Amino acid sequence: MKTEAELASWAATPWPELGLATPEALEASLGEFDAALAAARPEREAWLGRKRGLVTLINQNWLRLAPKEWKPALGAALNALRLRAEERLAATEAQAQPAATAWEDLTLPGRPALAAAMHPMLAVRDEITDIFLRLGYTVADGPEIETEYYNFEALNIPAGHPARDEHDTLYVGPGLPQHLLRTHTSPVQVRIMQHQPPPVRVIVPGRVYRRDTPDASHSPNFHQIEGLAVDRGLHLGHLKGTLDHFARAFFGPGVATRLRPSYFPFTEPSAELDVSCIFCQGSGCRTCKQSGWIEVLGCGMVDPAVFRFAGYDPAEVSGFAFGMGIERLTMLRYDWNDVQRQYAGDLRDLEQFR
Ligand code: DAH
Repeated sequence: MKTEAELASWAATPWPELGLATPEALEASLGEFDAALAAARPEREAWLGRKRGLVTLINQNWLRLAPKEWKPALGAALNALRLRAEERLAATEAQAQPAATAWEDLTLPGRPALAAAMHPMLAVRDEITDIFLRLGYTVADGPEIETEYYNFEALNIPAGHPARDEHDTLYVGPGLPQHLLRTHTSPVQVRIMQHQPPPVRVIVPGRVYRRDTPDASHSPNFHQIEGLAVDRGLHLGHLKGTLDHFARAFFGPGVATRLRPSYFPFTEPSAELDVSCIFCQGSGCRTCKQSGWIEVLGCGMVDPAVFRFAGYDPAEVSGFAFGMGIERLTMLRYDWNDVQRQYAGDLRDLEQFR
């Protein structure tokens, strides 16, 4: 028990933050704390700091000296203040944190996102295009609805020519001139030559149509890349050199090539390009039908008749042309044995080629 004098001197000691040394004063202090919070400046150090925080200072310098009979009430009030201060500081601090970074569990595995990817066929188209762009070719296109003239006539396939039957043409409506869905990209050769003087070095990727029933190797529409080079003095050696380069750039430096004589009405001479089988390296397998060779494209030296249709003088210029099926090359590149899979858009299938 303190003496009267001690009590008087203690009570007369002002605590700057608290004023009167009573439980009510502590409650008032809590009010002050609430106001500080409302003003959005809760300061953990000032209130709960272990060394200089208000609660510690009250405890050490003041509550210890309090009159015994007040101690329980003062202690309880001080404890309540500490708990409420702790609670509110924690609440405002949690609010001040961006919730996502505060609570995101960074060890969780990520949610899988479906990423877009290039379709293998388009990748092959671009790859082939790039090979020729690096040789100085440019890319062109032409209409998918064509006239008989460009699709056949100007390519040296006159009416009644047996090559017309092979093309299983889809005709578009009645009327003259007769329109059709182009059966190959070759008509663009003539359109380009009509629109620019030689020299020409161009490739034409595009969609073509034929009246075929879909199966593992047929589709009523598919895709080709046409190539045309015209200049003074171009000969078969230029064709062979260009296609050799293409075959090695596309299939790899190890492939062998050969030009096998063939026939197309718009080239003379005509050939087909074979590459040594990329699956068995030429020793013979199912894909190359035990021949060791795989057919890749058709080609030849532009027929003088085509130059005349296009308005070029075959005495002045010569050129070569080639045409390949994109689906076929995609099938070879990815060992995709059924062309229908290239159109199905089945993500489970496509995912293998990312
Ligand atoms: N147009 C031919 C086809 O669709 C492919 C072709 C062969 C194109 C020889 C050419 C070529 O340019 O020279 O079957």
